[in-house]
Amino acid sequence: MPSAAPTRTFICLELPETIRVQAEELQRRLAGLGDKIRWVNPKNLHLTLRFLGEISRSQLETVSLAMRCAAARVDAFPIRLSGTGCFPTPRRPRAFWIGVADASPLIRLFETIEGELASAGFPREARPFSPHLTLGRVRVDRSNPRLGEAMGGVEFDAEPFLVTDVTVMKSGLRKSGAVYTPVAREPLKPFRGLSLKPE
Ligand code: 2AM
Repeated sequence: MPSAAPTRTFICLELPETIRVQAEELQRRLAGLGDKIRWVNPKNLHLTLRFLGEISRSQLETVSLAMRCAAARVDAFPIRLSGTGCFPTPRRPRAFWIGVADASPLIRLFETIEGELASAGFPREARPFSPHLTLGRVRVDRSNPRLGEAMGGVEFDAEPFLVTDVTVMKSGLRKSGAVYTPVAREPLKPFRGLSLKPE
């Protein structure tokens, strides 16, 4: 019989292989910072739009439908990953991330998703949306300004890529780390702007 256990779920953008490779290179460059950082497995790298936590099977169906509606209302758009930083502060770093240059189309997508989820009965996210791609998490929570400084001084600039869909992802927490499985990929409206590829 299929399991009816709640599913840990989030909405995210998956990344093209080229970006994954660049992010992995950055992780390699930073490996010298020592074993205080648990790097995200490159195949798990993603940009979270909304974390939903544990939801039931019927809620998962509702979320997938809401994402289909949200995605259908938003034009595909280019995005460029750029810059790095730490949460919550460089003095006490807990997570190391890559940022997004001109996040306004991404924020519009997030707001559309929030609107559809709210209509489907999910309370709005209390925290402001802060677009980022988590690269690694610091293992021990203590003041570590040198680590924060080292992380803050790192440059990252990627080529733009086209966001063409949003993914409903389920997450299984294993001893060996998180295992992410796409539940649904919902397409955005086809991009009507210039091609990102050279003519
Ligand atoms: P993060 O990248 O900022 O760490 C899957 O776990 C994704 O959901 C991660 O990318 C993580 O965001 C986000 N996430 C995990 N737990 C969360 C929580 N309690 N609140 C908000 N986002 C969370």
